[in-house]
Amino acid sequence: MIFVSCKHEPEEIVIIDPVIPIDTVPTGLTCDPDTVYFRNDVLPLLISSCGMSGCHDASTAQEGVILTSYQSVMGTAEIIPGNPGRSKLYEAITDGETDERMPPPPMSALSADQILMIRKWIEQGARNNYCDAICDTTSFTFSGAVMPIINKNCKGCHTGINASGSIRLEDYATVKAAADNGSLYGAVSHQQGYSPMPKNGTKLPECNIIQLRRWIENGSPND
Ligand code: HEC
Repeated sequence: MIFVSCKHEPEEIVIIDPVIPIDTVPTGLTCDPDTVYFRNDVLPLLISSCGMSGCHDASTAQEGVILTSYQSVMGTAEIIPGNPGRSKLYEAITDGETDERMPPPPMSALSADQILMIRKWIEQGARNNYCDAICDTTSFTFSGAVMPIINKNCKGCHTGINASGSIRLEDYATVKAAADNGSLYGAVSHQQGYSPMPKNGTKLPECNIIQLRRWIENGSPND
């Protein structure tokens, strides 16, 4: 079921859950550099930094909070559109006292950029918006394409000593290891025999999957 409604600006669309695969969204839209888009920017971060098993996925739901879809974020994280200061989610990620701060230690805090992004998204109305981000399948360098995809969609779960599935995806060496044994591409392209990734999330946009494939086919260089 697809339900798309146009907001004030013609280039933006707002999507109503249930989740639609990203590649069914109409193409040809442009992104406003000052707008934070929930599906492009906020949801992948929440899923990979908070929505893992044992934390805020649907089956664990620590403290009743589930951070794996727009509906669950708005329904459980006490977000007041327009007012980050009164939103529980924002309070949790900015809490100075480390035992209250989310993600909790030993996981690292969100970066200043990530916190600012969530702040802006709430200030801008906490909408379920999506933008057809420019993604160029002819660009597939490690630093320009591969690591940004991993940072946004995977790193939160696949980092540190408690990395999910004991698989670390943190830097060139660890990502290359997963590329070499076939699991990286197998997981993101949802091949049989691999756990589909990102876990608890929507499949990566097709363009990102092509970028990863081309990088691997090119010998996974570190440039
Ligand atoms: C919410 C946490 C989470 C996110 C986000 C996530 N993973 Fe995973 N990943 C896991 C867990 C947990 C496992 C262990 C297997 C399982 O439970 O399905 C795993 C397993 C894997 C495996 C091994 C798969 C296999 O069958 O051998 C690979 C490769 C992998 N992830 C890559 C990725 C990539 C690439 C991304 C981002 C596009 C990603 N993961 C995002 C949690 C996550």
